[in-house]
Amino acid sequence: MTRILIDCDPGLDDAVALLAACHSPLLDVVAITTVAGNVGGAQTAQNGRIIRTLADSEDIPVHAGAPRPILRDPVTAEDFHGTTGLGGLDVPEPSAPLSPTHAVNALIEHCRAAKSDLLTLVMTGPMTNMALALTMAPDIMEGISEIVLMGGADREGGNITPFAEFNIYADPHAAAAVFGCGLPIRCLSLDVTHTLRTTKDRLSQVRAVDTSQADYAAAFLEASCKLEFSAKGRRDAPLHDPSTVIALAYPHLFEGRRAHVSVVTQEGEQFGRTIPHFADDGPVLWYDKADVEGVFKALCAMLEGAA
Ligand code: RIB
Ligand code: CA
Repeated sequence: MTRILIDCDPGLDDAVALLAACHSPLLDVVAITTVAGNVGGAQTAQNGRIIRTLADSEDIPVHAGAPRPILRDPVTAEDFHGTTGLGGLDVPEPSAPLSPTHAVNALIEHCRAAKSDLLTLVMTGPMTNMALALTMAPDIMEGISEIVLMGGADREGGNITPFAEFNIYADPHAAAAVFGCGLPIRCLSLDVTHTLRTTKDRLSQVRAVDTSQADYAAAFLEASCKLEFSAKGRRDAPLHDPSTVIALAYPHLFEGRRAHVSVVTQEGEQFGRTIPHFADDGPVLWYDKADVEGVFKALCAMLEGAA
């Protein structure tokens, strides 16, 4: 089992990623940290608790993190997630409380404790928490084997501006710090997630899995598709955040090229743009291709609790 810490801004697709990761026998989720992003920080923390309950994983600590980006004004993505962040779906009240430890301190503690049994960091939201942790305690990199993150765009163009993808746009300065930290990174940008479309057939595959986690995941995916239609005029929402944990558990399903990645942090029309500079010595594996049917089959296997 790969030990992972998931830093997220739930978020409908973050929710599907968390349900899959918590239920898969291939991954061991040691902690969940949340950050302001799709919705405000208090709501993403509450949603982290709710999804932990839905995943029957209340032994996993949830740590609330940065309530705002490092420098820029806060932005949210309620058009794609609703004001609750979970599409306004009827979800149970969470029972287990938030951890009293702030997400940045939790990242530092977990990474420092992992120096003999490295952690994989999965990031599916703005990278504020990790940028702050790296600034406070650069030594935490010794406890991290790799970062697998959803964010950025190159060939595909942006989804929140013509140049920028939301997770980067929401905190470009944090993203620049993470992409530049030197750790091995696998990046699921829009270049690959926009090929992973949740069609009716693929949604039916998820719905056919006989677990409560799959039932909730299907509901979150269906809500994503409805909001994608109202925001973008398409009914097949991209599988953004779940692609991180699927790539971690089933790396053979994805292909990419190595790159050094820079982020535009100057305000202007390209604010938050990611620019991959492809080179064999690049620390970032920039995915640009995936076996889409294999990815949805893998999602179903994870939600079923199968290897
Ligand atoms: O651009 C997609 C990303 O932005 C996903 O992580 C989604 O949850 C939103 O945070
Ligand atoms: Ca997210």
